[in-house]
Amino acid sequence: MFKIAVLPGDGIGPEVVAEGMKVLDVLSENYAFQFDFQEFEINSERYLRTGDLVREDDLAQLGKFDTIFLGAIGDDRVKPGVLEKGILLALRFHFDQYINHRPAPLWKPFGRLKRDADFNIDVFRENTEDYYIGAGGRVSNGKGVLDLRVKRQLYDMKVRLEANADAADDFAFEIGMMSRKNIERFADHVIDFSNLIGENYITVVDKANVCSNIYSLWREVWDDKCRRAGKEHGYMYVDAMTMALVKNPDKFRVVAVPNMFGDIITDLLAEVTGGLGLAPGGNINPQGISMFEPVHGSAPKYKGMGRINPVATILAVKMMLDNLGRRDLGEVVFRGVRGAFDSGVYTQDLGGKATTGQMGDAVVAAIQKLK
Ligand code: IPM
Ligand code: MG
Repeated sequence: MFKIAVLPGDGIGPEVVAEGMKVLDVLSENYAFQFDFQEFEINSERYLRTGDLVREDDLAQLGKFDTIFLGAIGDDRVKPGVLEKGILLALRFHFDQYINHRPAPLWKPFGRLKRDADFNIDVFRENTEDYYIGAGGRVSNGKGVLDLRVKRQLYDMKVRLEANADAADDFAFEIGMMSRKNIERFADHVIDFSNLIGENYITVVDKANVCSNIYSLWREVWDDKCRRAGKEHGYMYVDAMTMALVKNPDKFRVVAVPNMFGDIITDLLAEVTGGLGLAPGGNINPQGISMFEPVHGSAPKYKGMGRINPVATILAVKMMLDNLGRRDLGEVVFRGVRGAFDSGVYTQDLGGKATTGQMGDAVVAAIQKLK
């Protein structure tokens, strides 16, 4: 019996999560698969009502589950960053989900490339460090002290930044940070994955020609890990990478990328594969509790309209099943999605007419047919 914590979240989150739940239901009806779930209201509504983001008791409760299934977090009524940092990133960091795996296979015939190409890229985005640590602040009149803290399972880092400029201006800082042990465990995971799929080359992305303090440590670890593992690797600067992903995505198979650039290139790549409506992500802690979500956000302006593609979320369910050790069922979900598309059902983002609910139903029907 798998215990799943369900966080529908904000905006269109609840609508797409409902379709993911339909898929879990049809699996439990047709296969030897049992799950139990509990829904949590950890979202903007609760925040607006109570002022609470993620509470200690939420974390304690969530810690009792095998996995977390998340819709989306974000709301126009709240200042940017509050919910994102206070809920989504807080969960990623608390559960030490240091890997963000975002598979990007080409979804024929929805790919947006002008030429015919075949590709299947797995992006691994580092998920707890880099410029995402939330350490920074402002000083006015060119002077001030910032006491910063980054608390992770691997360390509790305190940084004091003493600013002293000769201009009485406002200055803002956003500190990036990486640690050797975290990069090491991240690289280990990516190397294990490439071994699993029989791929011998890893593309490592960064901007070491400019942010050479942070990314020289990143490169040092990658060089060392790949040498020991007998793995080939090569570096791409992120600017060149964005171009290459549009021009020749078929040159890439396994891509490793720091947190911030990973955020950017995975949206770009999702569009190339067929759109954000098809892109799932897994926030992975191989030894702990992982969390699965669509890459797209809460899209508040589409809330309640039934026009959002639930496939990204359904594919997040596939990743969740894989992660729980049920690759057999993950495969069933994948084939269900493919089957639904092949039967001509797709949502507006892909040029079709299906509503969110009809798309979910078509996947369910395709899964039933596989039996
Ligand atoms: C994503 C999102 C988040 C991120 C935001 C909502 C904090 O864009 O999952 O890609 O930047 O990681
Ligand atoms: Mg993003």
